[in-house]
Amino acid sequence: MKTKYLYINTIGCQMNVYDSERIAALMTPLGYRLTDSVRAADLVVVNTCTIREKAEQKAFSFLGRLADLKRKKPSLIIAVGGCVAQQEGRQIFKRVPFADVVFGTHAVGRLPRMVERVESRRCRVTDVEMTAEIDEFELPDGFAGNGEVSRFVTIMQGCDNFCTYCVVPYVRGREASRRPERIVAEIRSLVRNGVREVTLLGQNVNSYGKKEGLCSFAELLEQVNAIDGLYRIRFTTSHPKDLSPELTRTFGELEKLCHHIHLPVQSGSDRVLKRMNRKYTRAHYLDRLDRLRQVCPDIAVTSDMIVGFPGESRRDFEETLDLIRTVEYDGLFAFKYSDRPLAPASKFSDKVPEPEQNDRLQTLLALQEAYTLRKNRALIGTRPRVLVDGLSRRSDAGMAGEVRQWRGRTDGNKIVNFVWPEGVPEQDWMGHQIRVEIEEAFTHSLRGRPVTDKPSSLKGEESYAA
Ligand code: 5AD
Ligand code: SF4
Repeated sequence: MKTKYLYINTIGCQMNVYDSERIAALMTPLGYRLTDSVRAADLVVVNTCTIREKAEQKAFSFLGRLADLKRKKPSLIIAVGGCVAQQEGRQIFKRVPFADVVFGTHAVGRLPRMVERVESRRCRVTDVEMTAEIDEFELPDGFAGNGEVSRFVTIMQGCDNFCTYCVVPYVRGREASRRPERIVAEIRSLVRNGVREVTLLGQNVNSYGKKEGLCSFAELLEQVNAIDGLYRIRFTTSHPKDLSPELTRTFGELEKLCHHIHLPVQSGSDRVLKRMNRKYTRAHYLDRLDRLRQVCPDIAVTSDMIVGFPGESRRDFEETLDLIRTVEYDGLFAFKYSDRPLAPASKFSDKVPEPEQNDRLQTLLALQEAYTLRKNRALIGTRPRVLVDGLSRRSDAGMAGEVRQWRGRTDGNKIVNFVWPEGVPEQDWMGHQIRVEIEEAFTHSLRGRPVTDKPSSLKGEESYAA
């Protein structure tokens, strides 16, 4: 079979990253191999996102740039998938007349057949059908064999929460969970291929399995925790309204579960939370966090915030700043509210003007940066366990030659860069956990030095003898 090349542009969340990996695996039997050169591609897949206006613009501007390529190479197949495709359906062809395939969020598994049809008949194909059942699949063993240490695993699709700002329930459909045995089998296969850390993905992992009567999320975590060769488990996202006591307890019980939780709060004002339909109050949120910190005192906490939601007053915003001071987050993702046409808040009348939104965003980010830096600096002198996941070459200004710089993450999900100390033979520590003494702290990363440590009973932990 002739080798054909597949280029994937992934925009948006980790679920899209996972879907793109799945697409790469699904297209292999048709003779497609991944390339990172769009010019070399026979098939370009654009996996789009519509969560905020900017993400959508990004997709269309990339697609616009493909026009020229398609003119020069008419056999090129262009497939538009993901959330924008789901939202717009055939309308995509109006804006991108040179596209060949539009496939929705529930049609990933059907993409190979669609591409085959285009290959043989040179026609346009659209599939944005949504089904109530999960689009279940089995990934071929070995699909992860590209040396990655950490991977995402989607455990459920869709969302039933209907926050008023959010487009997800409309473009990803109703909540549905994958069967635990499929998830466990997939992770085992990843581990056989060198993966050491998995992040379980769902819009609201707390409701995993409830509809289908499968096991609870905490039970699924237990099963994943028992997989030999896996060192770390993360998950995202947990909705604060139903962060269960059972899930809170797992942080104290499962040794592979990383001490980090991403718990999006969106606003510190009860009035705004109500208008967002978040179904919890600020007090409830703080209480859940307190319980988590009782069980796991060193837990790193991150969150998402929206500023300038319709009707957000200066006072509401001050309450958000106050919440940030109260919680002392390790990190925050903050966004300016933007209208999503399918989401109810787009019809709310009292929009916050953009200059004011910009102003609030800057104020919030400046406040958080101080906390992020303070939290990171507190790690100086400590020796956290770091899972080594990459090697980056860096030219040191003023120094001859290049310094090999390694990279990893702490349990709390902080990036640590380090170089091998002089006189110590460098080894390939990719996929190993080592102790690194933190020497310097910045806003987005830490810098340290690998250190000798007492042998530990923790699986996969290694240390070198200096
Ligand atoms: N405007 C701005 N931010 C949004 N988010 C979701 N919808 C919107 C919107 N319409 C943010 C939320 C969510 C994150 C993934 O994106 O903070 O948690
Ligand atoms: Fe973007 Fe949401 Fe779709 Fe993810 S689920 S790609 S964040 S719109």
